Amino acid sequence: MASILTSLGRTVLAGFILALIIVILFGTNVDVSSAAWQTFFFRWLHIISGVMWIGLLWYFNFVQIPSMPKIPDEQKPAIGKVIAPTALFWFRFAAMATVLTGIIVAALNGYLHQAFTLQAPFRAIGLGMWIALIMAFNVWFIIWPNQKRALGIVTVEADVKAKSARVAMLTSRINTILSIPMLYLMSAQSHGGL
Ligand code: HEM
Repeated sequence: MASILTSLGRTVLAGFILALIIVILFGTNVDVSSAAWQTFFFRWLHIISGVMWIGLLWYFNFVQIPSMPKIPDEQKPAIGKVIAPTALFWFRFAAMATVLTGIIVAALNGYLHQAFTLQAPFRAIGLGMWIALIMAFNVWFIIWPNQKRALGIVTVEADVKAKSARVAMLTSRINTILSIPMLYLMSAQSHGGL
C-alpha cells in the first residue's frame, strides 16, 4: 500500500482501477459498446478535468493569493519558483482538457452547433460553454503569459513584472466570478436549472 501512496502516478492509477472495479462489480446497466456509455465516459473525463482546473483556480484565489502578503519575503521564492509553476502547469493543461472533453461531449450529444448558437433547448449548456471558453482563453492568453513575467520565467524589468502580476491576479479574479454561473449552467442542462 505504501508503494502506491508514496507515488502520485500510482495513486492516480489506483483511483482509475478502483473506478473500474466498482463498474465491474456494480455496473448492471453498463454497455461499453453503446454510444450512451461512451458519451457518459467523456462526461466523466470532462468532470475530472474541470475539477482539476477550477480546483486550482480556487486554490489560487482562496489560498495562494491571500496568503502571499503573510509570507516573509525570504520565503516567497518557495511559492513563486516551485509551487506556482507546478500549479500553473496542471491549471492550464486541465483547462485545455476540460475544453476538449466538453466539446467531445457536446458533439456526441449531437448539439454542438445548436449549443454554440444558443438555440432554445441548449441555451443553458451553450451559455456555459461560451463562459468556459472565455475562461480558458483567459488562462492561456492572459494569465499564463503574465504569470511567466510575474514569476521570472521570462525576465523583464521590475515595473513590467509588477504590472504583469496584477493583470494575472485580476484576470484570475474575473475567472473566479465566471466560474460560479458557468458551473450553474453546466449542471443546468440535464437537470432543469434554466
Ligand atoms: C469550453 C469548456 C466546456 C465545454 C465545451 C463543456 C461542455 C459540457 C457539456 C456538453 C456537458 C454535458 C451537458 C449535458 O448535456 O448535460 C457538460 C457537463 C458538465 N460540465 Fe462542462 N464544459 C466546459 C467546461 C466545464 C468546466 C470548466 C467545468 C468545471 C468543473 C465543467 C463541468 C461540467 C459538469 C460538472 C458537467 C456535468 C453536468 C451534469 O451531468 O449534471 N464544464 N459540459
